[in-house]
Amino acid sequence: MSKVIAIDGPSGAGKSSVSRIVGERLGFLHVDSGALYRIMTWQALARGVETSDPEAVAAFAPTVEIECRPENGAIAYYVGGEKPGDRIRTPEINAHASQVATVKAVRERITALLRGMTQYGDLVVEGRDITTAVFPDSPARFYLTASAEARARRRQKEEVEKGIANQSAESVKASLLARDAIDSTRKYAPLRKADGAVEIDSSDLTLEQVVETVLAALPSEWSPNS
Ligand code: DC
Repeated sequence: MSKVIAIDGPSGAGKSSVSRIVGERLGFLHVDSGALYRIMTWQALARGVETSDPEAVAAFAPTVEIECRPENGAIAYYVGGEKPGDRIRTPEINAHASQVATVKAVRERITALLRGMTQYGDLVVEGRDITTAVFPDSPARFYLTASAEARARRRQKEEVEKGIANQSAESVKASLLARDAIDSTRKYAPLRKADGAVEIDSSDLTLEQVVETVLAALPSEWSPNS
């Protein structure tokens, strides 16, 4: 049976960088579940679906064709034969994704896709409900967090580096807090720390320190040196 490391936490806590490196060290495939919610949002917007109408979004959800396959140490996603790339990382998608992620039919569809990925091997899966709803029985569950200031700083730096947007730190923080509020208060699978998950506050830690903390907390037989 595949091993699954599950990492949840709010935006900008460092989940992607940590998951990618932990995956590389252990030979586990990196799975970015947020990208699937972003793809749903991108497609809904492209097809003129009203993202604030849960029934319209629920009816649309099964029609989006997403192909998932292992590629360069991660699960890559294709829509209509193309990778979405940074088209799913815009401020517009940021603003609508949380709303789309409240819809039960969207969550069920993505949960099924994520569980199906164990066919490809061992996984490091990051998101908001991985430890609580998608893989709640994993023996390696983490809740990664950081102060709102630290998270906004990291997100803004990322956006500027990628040339996606040039928003002030204040507006990045406001958009991030608005998303946190929707993600943690929604009815289905809200973001919360799972009982038994290891909590790591990354505000004052380097990336390497967070990676080491995760590796040290894994079941000993999963260790790269065992
Ligand atoms: O991690 P991210 O910013 O790419 O996530 C995009 C949106 O999807 C965000 O509003 C939270 C939501 N999401 C979710 O509800 N459940 C997940 N497992 C991952 C992301």
